[in-house]
Amino acid sequence: MNLLVVTVSVRKGRAGKKVGDWFVGQVEKDGRFEVDHVDLKELDLSYELPEMLPSMVTNSDYAEEEDRTWATHVNNADAVVFVSPEYNHGMPASLKNALDHLGNEWNGKPTGFVGYGAAGAPYAQANLSLVAGWLKLDIVTPRVGIAEIWSAFNENGELAFADHYEHQAKSVIDALVKKVEG
Ligand SMILES: Cc1cc2nc3c(=O)[nH]c(=O)nc-3n(C[C@H](O)[C@H](O)[C@H](O)COP(=O)(O)O)c2cc1C
Repeated sequence: MNLLVVTVSVRKGRAGKKVGDWFVGQVEKDGRFEVDHVDLKELDLSYELPEMLPSMVTNSDYAEEEDRTWATHVNNADAVVFVSPEYNHGMPASLKNALDHLGNEWNGKPTGFVGYGAAGAPYAQANLSLVAGWLKLDIVTPRVGIAEIWSAFNENGELAFADHYEHQAKSVIDALVKKVEG
């Protein structure tokens, strides 16, 4: 089984890289999924969407190479996890843009959410749920919500309250395995 883990933040000095790497470590420790880790900062998707509506494209036959590349990551994944902060009580523009670049690829895709921020990004997740309803992402109920992200990692890169968050991560992975295995 393949899991696409998407590190969403493209902000200078972002905390997201540490959170994404931590979650990938949890998935690797668990061992049930092979991980494809995509960093949206490196993927660098254009904010100028192509003329053809993504929802009209079949078989991921996109005009732009960047969309074909992004679609391949999503198509090769049995499940997806977005590692996302919350900006102004919503999802970051980078995540919305990455979702908007594709269409049918999202249909029925088992999806997990690893949120972080002041209180674990509840509004970003609610915002994602609204969009997911239209794109037909199949979001699992368990989530990771890392609070007080500015003090969550110490200078050695270790996560405070690790047992608590590792338990949350395992709950997300368990729920995705259940979805994938049916
Ligand atoms: C534009 C902006 C808006 C923010 N709004 C929220 C918010 O609504 N809720 C929250 O918990 N944290 C908010 N924060 C604080 C972020 O949780 C914190 O800066 C976090 O490190 C952002 O993730 P990143 O460093 O990976 O980009 C905001 C940060 C920025 C830059």
